[in-house]
Amino acid sequence: MKLFVDTGSIKDIEAIAALGILDGVTTNPSLLAKEPGDFRQNLKKICDIVKGPVSGEVTATDFAGMIKQGHDIASIHKHMVVKTPMTRDGIRACKALSGEGIRVNVTLVFSAAQALLVAKAGATFVSPFVGRLDDVATNGMELIREIVEIYDNYEFPTEVLVASCRHPIHIVEAARMGADIATCPPAVIDQLFNHPLTNIGLEKFLKDWEKAQTVKA
Ligand code: E4P
Repeated sequence: MKLFVDTGSIKDIEAIAALGILDGVTTNPSLLAKEPGDFRQNLKKICDIVKGPVSGEVTATDFAGMIKQGHDIASIHKHMVVKTPMTRDGIRACKALSGEGIRVNVTLVFSAAQALLVAKAGATFVSPFVGRLDDVATNGMELIREIVEIYDNYEFPTEVLVASCRHPIHIVEAARMGADIATCPPAVIDQLFNHPLTNIGLEKFLKDWEKAQTVKA
């Protein structure tokens, strides 16, 4: 399973990319709005750091506007993927941009029915938001199970990009279900590394080693 980071922070992306486990980046208007500087320049810098897909979202809500912004976003860098919302115009824009060979990630997906439309529109990625479903007392990971089943039934090439992941269990469950990608904030990637027994074990190994060196000296 590929691991993407969901942030617009260049500093965080640099740090995670240096670990060698990062496959791509997702951004959204809320995340990019937090960063200083020009958003196009920021996306370009992110693309130069990450050797994988970087999603940038359109803010237009009409078809013509999405196509215009989609072309602009795609022209920033060859790694750019255009994010369109799960609306009628967003699906239409997805179909048109995908037809031109531009990769599209359809975002704000909250049902299997929507995910089916996304695949039919030829999207490269579908982004179901699991954390936001959990927030309204609906099991977000159940949606991932349904989408993976449907896409497998028909061999749709659209990749399932599990979004709005809030904790490591979302990531592990996504991997168990055979999702293609999980995207999560930098803090959740940090949490994936942690286990108290690793720290305790390492501390003991180093202490034992040090003790033996003192005895030998
Ligand atoms: C995905 O592309 C979205 O940017 C993101 O995962 C939304 O996450 P949130 O629900 O934690 O804001």
